[in-house]
Amino acid sequence: MNSQEIFNLADSHVMPTYARFPVAFVKGEGATLYDADGKAYIDFASGIGVNSLGYANAKWADAVISAVTEQVKKLQHVSNLYYTLPMAQLAEKLTTRSGMKYAFFSNSGAESNEGLIKLARKYSYETYGTHERHVILTLQNSFHGRTIATLEATGQEKFHGYDFFPYTGGFRYVQPGNLDAVKASCSDGKVCAVLIELVQGEGGVYPLPKDYVSELEAFCREQDILLLVDEVQTGIGRTGTLFAFQQYGITPDAVSFAKGIAGGLPMGGFLVPEKTANVLRAGDHATTFGGNPVCAAAALTVLDTLSDDVLAEVVKKGEKIKSSVLAMNSPYVAEARGLGLMIGIKLTGISHRDVVAKLLESGLVALTAGSDTLRFLPPLTISDAEIDKGLEVLKSVLK
Ligand SMILES: Cc1ncc(COP(=O)(O)O)c(C=O)c1O
Repeated sequence: MNSQEIFNLADSHVMPTYARFPVAFVKGEGATLYDADGKAYIDFASGIGVNSLGYANAKWADAVISAVTEQVKKLQHVSNLYYTLPMAQLAEKLTTRSGMKYAFFSNSGAESNEGLIKLARKYSYETYGTHERHVILTLQNSFHGRTIATLEATGQEKFHGYDFFPYTGGFRYVQPGNLDAVKASCSDGKVCAVLIELVQGEGGVYPLPKDYVSELEAFCREQDILLLVDEVQTGIGRTGTLFAFQQYGITPDAVSFAKGIAGGLPMGGFLVPEKTANVLRAGDHATTFGGNPVCAAAALTVLDTLSDDVLAEVVKKGEKIKSSVLAMNSPYVAEARGLGLMIGIKLTGISHRDVVAKLLESGLVALTAGSDTLRFLPPLTISDAEIDKGLEVLKSVLK
């Protein structure tokens, strides 16, 4: 089928909940994608931070294909009523490399954050014996998902204006970087947790200041308010460490992950340290597909590939992209920010949506974030040659 035929088929049968670009991808190699008409694109998006190791990368693809196919031939699923080895191995790797105690596996980012919300409320109820202390503070401009609770947790008015009432309640929003606002919001004793992204992704690629995060952690400890970190976008090597919290020098009371964990297969989950390890017990939280053997096998390969050397390269490549964009001296570029390969280019005098559409037409896949920012989340294994090609396209569009 050519592109037009795919658009027609999808538009006739798929619920129109996405504003899709008129491109149908059929294959990829490294950080290069090909559409159904054979046109090539450099990928600075990796399916919104999912394809951490790119497409058909020889070494990685072979390892993943054999891990996945071997696992499929042995056992594709048995449910969480029984034990399976890949999930146990994955939990061991994740907890060892993060310094956390236990892992829980789910299927998406929003679902993982739902787990954090449940954990915080249960911890608070069991410790203080009252349902009053149930409020979760989130940051303005945050994004935590599309389920009814995570939509409300998302600190952006535009996500609350839809006709989905009633929401669950129990969230308050504070300005990022402002510890006094957190303190004021907690003063009535009703707050049980603070939920943050260390680099706000959808909201515009804003890294939180390190001092603020350390002071926030200290305040949370003092008040026994749980510090929940949403690493759905920042986790699994995206910012140059396996988890962003590791470079912020904090210990979250729970940290969620998803997107890049299985390199393109649907998986998510969260990690907890000793302090909150036994809050959720048998019967408290579950999901049918969580940690299933096929996704777990794929995730094991992703983690094995993300060595310290590969993570150090993520930092270097991110710096290269940011400095090259600034060196273009484009009148439209106001700022380049972000950590590792999670990059935001603030634009001025031009619509970020128009730029993304123009880039796609010109052969570069990129994303928007916030109201004025181009967002790049390339595969973590993108080559220097692919970065250069992508930057050439960017330069021609932003000149
Ligand atoms: C920080 C953050 N949290 C949660 C989510 C929701 O993840 P999912 O779409 O897998 O439910 C996203 C998705 O973009 C995200 O960036």
